[in-house]
Amino acid sequence: MKTTLKKVILTLAATSAFSAGATDAPPEGITVMSLGESNTMVRITDPTQKYLILPVEERVPDARIDVLVNGEIAHTFHVKLACNEIDYTVPFDLTPYTSKGNVVLNIVNPIDRSYSRDAQDFICWEEMKLSDSFDTSNTEKYRPLFHHTPLYGWMNDPNGMFYKDGTWHLYYQYNPYGSKWQNMSWGHSTSRDLVNWDHEPVAIRPNGLGSIFSGSAVIDSGNTGGFGVDAVVAFYTSAAASQVQSMAVSKDGGMTFTNYAGNPVIPNTHEARDPKVFWHEGTQRWIMMLAAALNHEMEIHSSPDLVNWTYESSFGRGYGGQDGVWECPDLIKLPVKGSKKEKWVLICNINPGGPFGGSAAQYFVGDFDGHKFTCDNAVNDTRWMDYGKDHYATVTWHNAPDNRTVALGWMSNWQYANEVPTMQYRSANTLPRDLSLFRAPDGDLYLSVVPSPEVNAMRGSRESHSAFTLADSVSYSLPVANDGVCEIDLGYNLKDAKGLTIILSNAKGEKVTMKYDPRKHTFLMDRQESGLTKFSRHFPTTTVAPTLSRSSKGTLRLFIDRCSIEAFDGDGNFAMTNLVFPKEPYTTLTLVSEDGKTRIDNLDIFQLDPALALNK
Ligand code: FRU
Repeated sequence: MKTTLKKVILTLAATSAFSAGATDAPPEGITVMSLGESNTMVRITDPTQKYLILPVEERVPDARIDVLVNGEIAHTFHVKLACNEIDYTVPFDLTPYTSKGNVVLNIVNPIDRSYSRDAQDFICWEEMKLSDSFDTSNTEKYRPLFHHTPLYGWMNDPNGMFYKDGTWHLYYQYNPYGSKWQNMSWGHSTSRDLVNWDHEPVAIRPNGLGSIFSGSAVIDSGNTGGFGVDAVVAFYTSAAASQVQSMAVSKDGGMTFTNYAGNPVIPNTHEARDPKVFWHEGTQRWIMMLAAALNHEMEIHSSPDLVNWTYESSFGRGYGGQDGVWECPDLIKLPVKGSKKEKWVLICNINPGGPFGGSAAQYFVGDFDGHKFTCDNAVNDTRWMDYGKDHYATVTWHNAPDNRTVALGWMSNWQYANEVPTMQYRSANTLPRDLSLFRAPDGDLYLSVVPSPEVNAMRGSRESHSAFTLADSVSYSLPVANDGVCEIDLGYNLKDAKGLTIILSNAKGEKVTMKYDPRKHTFLMDRQESGLTKFSRHFPTTTVAPTLSRSSKGTLRLFIDRCSIEAFDGDGNFAMTNLVFPKEPYTTLTLVSEDGKTRIDNLDIFQLDPALALNK
């Protein structure tokens, strides 16, 4: 997605006048009326311009803004309006309101003793501007080149993903008015190839029932709901004083949605959220998985028509990780590699309580008869979809082609997601991953996670090293173009070595150390010296995965994309996703064979194709 620098057209005089009561000399286009220590009204006097550009200061509390059209409240949202200094600006699209009448923003700033001024002295009133455009050119050093990010603003969970007519739709928890969690809406992106993403208008905005939390979408090809053949029906949690389940229908393939008039469709009385809906062939019913967050259970509901839902059963009490809230469920049928068998996998995102603190995605293998999920794993057997710290809210695409099950996770962790050192936007998604099951040497079934084959299209020039035996250590330069964004593929055989260490480092002495331990059958990643780590005490960590293999041979794929490292076992036995914020890109790859020899079967370093980069 290419963005161009557009000249911001200002109609507001550089020095805006305001004082108690109406301004003496109103600036062109807007009038700022200060109404005391915390209340301010902004009248839009020039309705011809698209955006009101709002200055944001991240450390201050949210102001509440009611948008009044002819005196009626048409919309409410929250923004950290700049008090002392401006970190960045966000656009508020006025056109849906100015087209209907006179627009006044009634703004209440909380009285916060951390700043000793009345709202009337805030810098935001001077710097608020009308404009016909908003500049979305990338200003961020850590913005990934090949991972989906919002152009600006905050993102968390992937939502409502479906595939239709060659297009992958991705919605996501989005704050369009700042880069911290707030104003939950469904942002929207589309892709024809799972690599390049176009940014679409926000698809679902907060309404009278609350903000729009996570959920899913299905294509109703049988018109079971009566909304029309192939209507796209989205389910989300309406979150306000309570959390209830709502529905919205799209008749234009997922670009715009109309909220269902009979919402909520499930008026649950306990905290439950993140509905994931799918069609169950066996019972010819729609199934909704719902996270009963505080009960540590996933509820199963069924429906013939997407509108009327019946509670079937719950799964989870006592199973797996129980420390945090249960969120963002999914239930998928997966093939077992090397057999004709299929099994069901229940995905359960949990926060906190992840293996390395904070958020993580666990899964359970079992059976599902359309009414009840029965788990094959022992109650205390906890398994993780990804053994890094930055893989959460993972769910799968509805209707993916070729019977594939394609998953996407939010590449962050609630422990520090709001604090990571970016500003214009916050958070990226993981690379898309194809899921299946495999039988490990212990006889059990585990989730196999591999990068979706589409990501191979990102590869640009390749540097290949033929097989050799490593007795001590060897170093290679990483591609410098694209800030070292690359894929590294490594085939190894730990013949008699006690370990293989893989180090990514830069001239500043920052490094990420990975290590295979053939005795413990583990792979670890240590990011304690990876670069900027001090923004959260939870950030510097070492994460460890079981390799679920008894072989001394294996392959590893590493994807390095400015602020992230994703490590995938070549056979899918484990995935590990960790954010990193090096002050300079890592420029060197070092391999160390510990106490013995390692055969390097292959080493390929692919510069990821700059021509394909999402964010230049
Ligand atoms: C998971 C989550 C969901 C909720 C959403 C709100 O990260 O807490 O349970 O719907 O985020 O943004």
